[in-house]
Amino acid sequence: MLRPVTSESYRLLHPKLVCFLTSVDKSGKANIMPCAWVSPASEEPPMVIAFVAKTHYTARLIKMTKQFGLSIPDASMERAIWVTGSVSGKDVDKFAKAGLQQLQAKKDQGSYGCRVYWVPGVHFGEGG
Ligand SMILES: Cc1cc2nc3c(=O)[nH]c(=O)nc-3n(C[C@H](O)[C@H](O)[C@H](O)COP(=O)(O)O)c2cc1C
Repeated sequence: MLRPVTSESYRLLHPKLVCFLTSVDKSGKANIMPCAWVSPASEEPPMVIAFVAKTHYTARLIKMTKQFGLSIPDASMERAIWVTGSVSGKDVDKFAKAGLQQLQAKKDQGSYGCRVYWVPGVHFGEGG
């Protein structure tokens, strides 16, 4: 039987894998946010698509620098996921608050540096 669509229907597609998106401001200061709405978009060229609310500080930084990092946390990082997803990097150094260390992105360690192609209202990220 068909059920009416409610504002919470998107939850039918959860739970999902959670990723970390990292971004930097013009001075190189980094920010981090958990992002569950990430999907592979192409194998060749390697592309991912990430849905980030326009209101997030991360969206502002990615729009400004046209780059972001994508990392896959493991289960031991559950607390860090909630800490970094509960406050904005506009107000707080989330790496310090969550006790996270910044490392260079390395594909074989589950993290990627991504370039962004900006189309009005839409972000395209390319893994690399
Ligand atoms: C598990 C989890 C998954 C999330 N997934 C997304 C997502 O896919 N897209 C999004 O825009 N926000 C998502 N959020 C919310 C942002 O991570 C959160 O609002 C964050 O504080 C934004 O930080 P910023 O202002 O420093 O960018 C998620 C939060 C959590 C805890």
